[in-house]
Amino acid sequence: MNKLEHLAIIMDGNGRWAKKRGWNRTKGHEKGVETVRDITIHCSKIEEIKTLTLYAFSTENWKRPKLEVNFLMKLLERYLKNEEPTYMKYGVKFETIGDLEPFSKGLRKVIDNLKEKTKNNTNLKQYIALNYGSQDEIVRAVNSLVKENIEVTTDTLTNALDLPYSIDLLIRTSGEHRLSNFLLWQVAYSEFFFTDTLWPDFSPNELDTIIDNFKNRERKFGGI
Ligand code: FPP
Repeated sequence: MNKLEHLAIIMDGNGRWAKKRGWNRTKGHEKGVETVRDITIHCSKIEEIKTLTLYAFSTENWKRPKLEVNFLMKLLERYLKNEEPTYMKYGVKFETIGDLEPFSKGLRKVIDNLKEKTKNNTNLKQYIALNYGSQDEIVRAVNSLVKENIEVTTDTLTNALDLPYSIDLLIRTSGEHRLSNFLLWQVAYSEFFFTDTLWPDFSPNELDTIIDNFKNRERKFGGI
């Protein structure tokens, strides 16, 4: 049976979830935050899952209407401010991947604060991808090696990435079958699972079913 240590999720479908109900897209993001909380808590209770990496805001998401981008920033700030007790209760260590430079000083402070407060938690490490793009991550990593005159090898490049770990299982919700610039290097030998469920409807029960499916797959890592 496969061991699931690192789960990554492309959380997609918030907008469609809201539109289906005749609501503004922002309602879908609000409901999506509840799913983030539920799935994080659930993963913290599954002993073998050590790391959960979630795609929240890509380097391309700045192209969305300004109102939606501003809403997402405020929502993220509210979430990070409110969730500290949950992270402490369930032993979740909060981390980010991506380039935080374009975010406001206020938001970066809230991000740093939650990282600092949760740094000794050990049940689950949660990485939230913010202004993250895999191509950008790889370019930044290569440039940092070149700057320090370090030879680029598989190991040195992996270690220079924001997320220097491989992914066991990658899930994308909402029926899209794309990677959308997420963890291109880290998914070299990952198992993929695509579900039609929209992110706000994704549940711990469905995650358990997907994990069962993953456990019974044959992983060969290039061998036979
Ligand atoms: C995809 O739905 C979702 C996003 C681009 C943002 C994900 C954000 C959240 C789940 C909420 C905020 C996150 C945190 C961690 C507080 P979409 O808008 O692309 O939906 P669509 O494809 O149906 O339009």
